[in-house]
Amino acid sequence: MSKNIVVAIDGYSSCGKSTLAKALAKKLNFIYIDSGAMYRAVTLYFLRNNIDLQKPEIIKEALENIHLDFQTLNNETVITLNGEDVSKEIRQMHVAEKVSLISAIKAVRVEMVRQQQRMGKSGNIVMDGRDIGTVVFPNADLKLFMTADPQIRAERRYNELISKGETVKMEEIYDNLAKRDLQDTTRKESPLIQAQDAIILDNSDINESQQLEFALGHIKL
Ligand code: DC
Repeated sequence: MSKNIVVAIDGYSSCGKSTLAKALAKKLNFIYIDSGAMYRAVTLYFLRNNIDLQKPEIIKEALENIHLDFQTLNNETVITLNGEDVSKEIRQMHVAEKVSLISAIKAVRVEMVRQQQRMGKSGNIVMDGRDIGTVVFPNADLKLFMTADPQIRAERRYNELISKGETVKMEEIYDNLAKRDLQDTTRKESPLIQAQDAIILDNSDINESQQLEFALGHIKL
């Protein structure tokens, strides 16, 4: 019986999880799934439809009306929300500001985990997020836990935003990362923690091709 191979990549914000996950998926010809994009798309739906977070029934109904899918368009993987490509909009600030709040709701997590586990049945995958090796795929074939020096992460994020033409302050970026790390690691539902059997990848002093080599060195096909 052939088994689907699952690579789970978890870690702090702006550690380069998606860069590594995409490179790994490309190299191995696996499907890449960005679980953060799913929480962002749910957040966008909640914002557009003014979902009242105090009403569990309304949240339940909203979740039933959300259909997420990943599709490949012009060599790029995009996420669709009820058929609409929302890949760009989910990266905008109005979504980023609310995603921590929405992703901490238990009903939201239960539904996303269900969908992520279903996706894991459809082929070999690389999935990145915060709870992939602990909750979504506790039996993943390879678990990586990514970390990097906070100052280096902030500098990378700063350079990325500046190169996109945004006006940002280094101090602001540093504080925002520290806040998100704190929120992700201390929330009640599925906080970010390293799975016991995860391999730590600290990429403070290594580049993208070195981290890819590191990950490939741990994969047993
Ligand atoms: O990876 P990202 O920054 O795009 O994730 C967006 C948000 O979603 C982030 O605040 C943490 C949350 N998230 C989560 O709670 N669980 C996941 N598996 C992935 C992301």
